[in-house]
Amino acid sequence: MMNIIEVRDLQKYFYKKSGILHKIFGVGPQIIQAVDQVSFNIERGNTMALVGESGCGKTTVARLILNLIELDEGKIIFKGKDLNEMSEEEYNDYRENAAFIAQDFRSSLNPRKLVGEILAEPFRIHPGVVSKKNEEKRIKEIVDLVGLSEKSLLKFPHEFSGGQARRIGVARALMLNPEFIVCDEPTSGLDLSISASIINLMKDLRDEFDLTYLWISHNLNVVNYISDYVGVMYLGRIIEIGKSRALFNNPTHPYTEALIESVPSFSQENKKIKRKTLKGEVPSPIDPPAGCSFHPRCKYSQSKCKEITPELEIKEGERKAACHFPL
Ligand SMILES: Nc1ncnc2c1ncn2[C@@H]1O[C@H](COP(=O)(O)OP(=O)(O)O)[C@@H](O)[C@H]1O
Ligand SMILES: [Mg+2]
Repeated sequence: MMNIIEVRDLQKYFYKKSGILHKIFGVGPQIIQAVDQVSFNIERGNTMALVGESGCGKTTVARLILNLIELDEGKIIFKGKDLNEMSEEEYNDYRENAAFIAQDFRSSLNPRKLVGEILAEPFRIHPGVVSKKNEEKRIKEIVDLVGLSEKSLLKFPHEFSGGQARRIGVARALMLNPEFIVCDEPTSGLDLSISASIINLMKDLRDEFDLTYLWISHNLNVVNYISDYVGVMYLGRIIEIGKSRALFNNPTHPYTEALIESVPSFSQENKKIKRKTLKGEVPSPIDPPAGCSFHPRCKYSQSKCKEITPELEIKEGERKAACHFPL
């Protein structure tokens, strides 16, 4: 099977300029290790999920893949072509075929624009993909496809509920008939039933149009319903990666296990189980802990974990994990 997207050793550090306090105490700019050594591929028609708590670097990976920010190191390969070596034609193909449903979609919408105008924006950005005379037809088709009425086109974004606003985001992403969509937390902040309806919509669209997704979420239980593969991120790095169901049923990394235990599940029978919470917070990416960055929160931590950073390596079959003492 052909890979739609391949990423190799992505690295992105941000430099936080020194503030007034830092100047007084003579501290220079701080380095934030947002993304480090991230590699994966997604075959056509598959969904790969990236999960992890807030601040782990998921959105940064999304923005790198969509070329919205520049890489420090690494490679992004779209349909077999390195982004840096694309001809103009290949680059245009990538821009049209790699779509984005941004996190906080509603706040990214222009509140003074009608939904109809918002949905026509992709045609302005990429003229020629859909002919002028077909634009209106296309918008109506897509609006219907995502379960909104034609009347929605004449409304403003704030007139929609959270779930409907996501549908507008989905519609906008579909406008140019993309092959690949990066969905950044498309269900966060929605209650379970609305979440489920968005997931079902995305599943139907994927099947109908043979779409490939990178699905970003902080909820590992939700991604189990949509993804074929999962990469679990912690402080900018993938610490476990593998097939969804297997990873979910039999986590190898203690962080993956803790994530599964700490988030609410869709299934009814789990409702009674009191959820364990993941202890502590994600440490600052400015000065990550030595050794395994998860060790201060890990209940299985041993002295080796404080000193030596575990590499992401094959543990079993297709499964890779970065842990000295895998479960
Ligand atoms: N433009 C930026 N400038 C400085 N720091 C950033 C920027 N974007 C993200 N970060 C930092 O990088 C880390 C990863 O952020 P992000 O990719 O948004 O994580 P996630 O999506 O998993 O919550 C965080 O510590 C965040 O504060
Ligand atoms: Mg994010």
